[in-house]
Amino acid sequence: MPDSSARKILVTSALPYANGSLHLGHLLEMVQTDIWVRFQKSRGHDCLYVCADDAHGTAIMLTAEKQGITPEEQIARIKAEHERDAAGFYIGFDNYYSTHTDENRYWSEEIYRRLKANGHIASRAIVQAFDPEKQLFLADRFIKGTCPSCKTPDQYGDNCEACGATYTPADLIDPVSAISGARPVPRESIHFFFTLPALADMLQDWIDSGTLQPQIANKLREWTDAGLQEWDISRDAPYFGFEIPDEPGKYFYVWLDAPIGYIASFQNLCERSGRDFDSYWQADADAELYHFIGKDIINFHGLFWPAMLHSAGLRTPTAIYVHGFLTVNGTKMSKSRGTFINAGTYLEHLDAEYLRYYFAAKLSGAVDDIDLNLEDFVQRVNADVVGKIVNIASRCAGFLRKGFANTTAESCAEPALLQAFLDEGEAIATAYEQREFSKAVRAIVALADRANQYIDEKKPWVLARETGREQEVHAVCSMGVNLFRVLMTYLKPVLPGMAERSEAFLQCSLDWTALDGPLLGHELAPFQPLLTRVDPAAVEALLSASAETA
Ligand code: MSP
Ligand code: ZN
Repeated sequence: MPDSSARKILVTSALPYANGSLHLGHLLEMVQTDIWVRFQKSRGHDCLYVCADDAHGTAIMLTAEKQGITPEEQIARIKAEHERDAAGFYIGFDNYYSTHTDENRYWSEEIYRRLKANGHIASRAIVQAFDPEKQLFLADRFIKGTCPSCKTPDQYGDNCEACGATYTPADLIDPVSAISGARPVPRESIHFFFTLPALADMLQDWIDSGTLQPQIANKLREWTDAGLQEWDISRDAPYFGFEIPDEPGKYFYVWLDAPIGYIASFQNLCERSGRDFDSYWQADADAELYHFIGKDIINFHGLFWPAMLHSAGLRTPTAIYVHGFLTVNGTKMSKSRGTFINAGTYLEHLDAEYLRYYFAAKLSGAVDDIDLNLEDFVQRVNADVVGKIVNIASRCAGFLRKGFANTTAESCAEPALLQAFLDEGEAIATAYEQREFSKAVRAIVALADRANQYIDEKKPWVLARETGREQEVHAVCSMGVNLFRVLMTYLKPVLPGMAERSEAFLQCSLDWTALDGPLLGHELAPFQPLLTRVDPAAVEALLSASAETA
């Protein structure tokens, strides 16, 4: 229940392209965001999480064409799949929307008009490669040819996969359109530009504001020091997107309307829930705004987006939180090795919470890449979650049910020990707040060790065989259950499913705000298994299934 000290927080993760399935890289980002949001909610803050599919662009148009469906059909199919997979990983969006919507069209046009009114939109003719057969302009990645350095044929227009050389499509030997095979011809057309250099002062303040991760501020400084360039925000028809007002045949570049999708998704949530839009997005907003993104899209969120918002008279983000890339077994996800793992394929073989736990155990507030080492994954989940945390509850539950009507003792056997667990709460909360999830998880597992050590020392299974020591058994096992309750409260943002099963067992809510005195004389529900061990054979099956779908 939000109170007067409750913060108003809006959180986003980057909008996945409506062009393909979610993979474990996308899930790294969504899990990181979701843990942070669930943590804020557990602390009683008014925190909302919105996202959407990024539905526009040439790639989506061509994918739909290849499948003989309309772009609208393509994006509807993919959106349903994305939502299903995200739900499978317990991603608790408050709204999941699309950029191909009325709200997004409204805000894209509105923001464009405001930029234009401020003199921040320029136009001029540029020359680009044009596919004469397909009658469309070709982005660099839609041009193929022979590498000018090593002469390997069939290389993309921006870099060579064989020798690593980077170049422009004009350097390619015998260039062809990757779409039609025709030879591209140069053609001129008018493009529209967002005049980023006019916002240089504002961007300098934003970069120096201290809210950005140091690595990100440095990266942005490199770009501003090199000199800001005007940003090309238009594309010529045919293009799947929004037509620019009063400019027939010209469309907004997908990256112009994509971040505006954050606003559109939130507005749609407001329409459904009666929330107050202005206090989140107007310049005088009192809500905090955070964007979780990967390191490949820093320029869009760290330069173009705040500059656009500022020029349009809207608020800028409180911070952007950038994470690194996911690798599997130490290397880039690879289709041939079976390590390019789709979210849906994972869910067919393994429990989502294993991966949530593993990601949490490795994530920090830094921009470093995260490796999913599958051996370490099996070992860590089994040792920590099943071997340590579930173990506390399962070893106590049986005694309480058999001897004590499944009810905890009337008094707390070790108040100091319980207090020590509660005292750790603030340090754990600080770690979560700072996205130092690995630190939070380490502290929680250390507490689990102490709880297990306590039970090992008291040996209820020995006491239970001796006469006249029932009360001690009751005291120890009740203590164990109370310690478990504190631990699961701390872990709930990471393991929401296991927390729900624990809530059913403990018959109490595991929110941070509900953490008060111990459960005394409290009746429990029958204990159900909370999480089973990871089966290494299921991991093998996942890898072979991933190799097959590739
Ligand atoms: N559509 C754009 C984002 C628009 S946001 C206004 C986009 N889409 S994406 O599908 O390519 O990526 C979505 C998010 O997933 C990005 O933040 C990206 O960094 C992240 N990841 C994609 N692959 C990833 C990994 N292998 N590892 C971690 N994150 C990755 O970019
Ligand atoms: Zn080459």
